[in-house]
Amino acid sequence: MKVGVEQGELKDVGADLLVVGLSKGAELPAEIDAAAGADEAKAGFKKLSLLRPDGFPPTLVVGLGDREELDAEKLRVAAALAAKEAKRLGAASLAWALPESRDDAAAAAALVTGTVLAAYRFDRFKSETDEEAPLESLTLLSPAGLADAVETARIVAEAQNRARDLQNTPANVATPSFLAARAEEIAAGSASLSVDVLGRRELEEKGMGGILAVSQGGPEEPKMIVLRYSGGGSAPILGLIGKGVTFDTGGISLKPGAGMQEMKMDMSGAAAVLETVAAIAELGLPLDVVAVCPATENMPSGKAIKPGDVITQYNGKTVEVNNTDAEGRLILADALAYAAELGAERLVDIATLTGAVEVALGSTYAGLVANDDELAAAVTRAGEATGELAWRLPLHPEYKELMQGTVADLSNLGKKRKAGTITAASFLEEFVGELPWAHLDIAGSAWDIGREYVGNGANGFGVRLLVALAQSHA
Ligand code: BES
Ligand code: MN
Ligand code: ZN
Repeated sequence: MKVGVEQGELKDVGADLLVVGLSKGAELPAEIDAAAGADEAKAGFKKLSLLRPDGFPPTLVVGLGDREELDAEKLRVAAALAAKEAKRLGAASLAWALPESRDDAAAAAALVTGTVLAAYRFDRFKSETDEEAPLESLTLLSPAGLADAVETARIVAEAQNRARDLQNTPANVATPSFLAARAEEIAAGSASLSVDVLGRRELEEKGMGGILAVSQGGPEEPKMIVLRYSGGGSAPILGLIGKGVTFDTGGISLKPGAGMQEMKMDMSGAAAVLETVAAIAELGLPLDVVAVCPATENMPSGKAIKPGDVITQYNGKTVEVNNTDAEGRLILADALAYAAELGAERLVDIATLTGAVEVALGSTYAGLVANDDELAAAVTRAGEATGELAWRLPLHPEYKELMQGTVADLSNLGKKRKAGTITAASFLEEFVGELPWAHLDIAGSAWDIGREYVGNGANGFGVRLLVALAQSHA
C-alpha cells in the first residue's frame, strides 16, 4: 500500500474517503461540522458516521471515545474500521486527519499499522474474486516531522502481512524448501543479509538429531535455515529462532482430525522471524542478528519416530521422545544450540508450541518464559508498545524435574499433565547454555485473535514485537 504524509488543508486532500476521529467532548473541524448530520456524529469508541460535506469527499467520522483513554491500540482498531468502510464504499484511497493525542508519532504509526493490516487479504488460490478493488493508498494529514515514523510503520506492517501469507499458504506449497527459498529471496534483497540452508546431509553431519527425528516420517527434506543480518553497532548479537513445522499431524501420536488443517500454520514462528529480519534489513537497524529457523513436517509413517525412541540433540543431550506430537521443542533444541554456536549473545525464540498456552492466556497474550529479567522486561515492553502482548510465566526447578527422562537425559513430555507451557519452555532452557533467553509461545495468538485489524485468520504475530525489540536492542 502507498502510504504518505501531507501537511495541507483538509479540503485539499484528493482521497476517495476522508476520515476524521472524534473524541468525547471534542468538536469536528468547522468545514465538516457544517455538513448535514454532523451534529449527530457519535464520539463513542468504534461508532461510525458517514457525512457528505459540501466540497469534500465522503467523510467518515470514527468515534474515539474518551480522550484520556485514547492509545495506540484504539487507533489501530479505529484505522481498521475505517479501512473496512473504505472497502465497503469501494474507495481506493483514504486520507486520515491525525487525531490529537499525547504522541503524534505513535498515533500516526498506529493508524498506518491498523490500515495496512486490515486491508490484507489472501486470494492467491481463488480463481475469481468478487471483492472490491483493494485499498491502494493512505494519506495522513498531520503536523510535519512524522514521515519516518509513518514509513517505519508501513515497512513493519507489510512484513507482517508477508508473514501472514506464509502462514496461510497451504502445506503442500509451503514446504520446508519453500521457507528456505523465501529466506534466500529475502537475503537477495539486501547487501547486509546472508543466508545458509542446511539440508538433510549437513544435518546428519552435524548431528542435529531433533530436526532429523521429526522429519524422518515424511518425504519433505528438513531445512535448518540461517539468515544473518549485519547492521553493525555495539549491541550484543541478537539470536531469533522460529519454529517452522510446515505441517504438524502429531506423527505417530496422531492428532485428532477436527481442526487439523490449522496445523499448516505451525510454522508461524518461522514466518514471523524471517519477515522480521526482512523488515530489520529494510529499516537498516544498527545491530547484528542471527536468525535460525528449523523447518520440517511432522508426519506419521513406517519410518516415523516412535514414542519411546531416544535421540541425541545437537548439544549432545539425549531425549526420550515420549510423545511425537511434542515435536516443536525437539527442533528448537537443535536450533537454539546452533544459534548460540553461531555467535548469538541473546536468544529469543518464537513458536506455536503448546495448546496449554491458549488455555492459560487465551489469544490476548502470548506466553513468555525467560531466564533473564532484563530480556523478559524488554520483550514485555516491546509487546506493550506494539499491541502484541506477552505475559511472563515462571521457571522453577520443579518444572524441570517433570522433564527428566527415564532412560535418557530428558523426556520431551512432562511426567504429569501440569503446566504444559512452562514444562515445554523448561525443556528448551536445557539448550541455551548460559545465554540470556526468552521464549514466546504463540500457539494461542498466531491466529484466531479476533482484533479488528487482523480478524480471526493468520495474523503474523511477532513481527511487530520482534522489530520493536530489535529497535530497543540496537
Ligand atoms: N503445534 C502444536 C501446538 C499447537 C496447538 C499449536 C494448538 C497451535 C494450536 C504442538 O506441536 C503440540 O502438538 N503440542 C502438544 C504438546 C504435548 C503433546 C505435550 C500439545 O500442546 O498438545
Ligand atoms: Mn505437535
Ligand atoms: Zn507443533
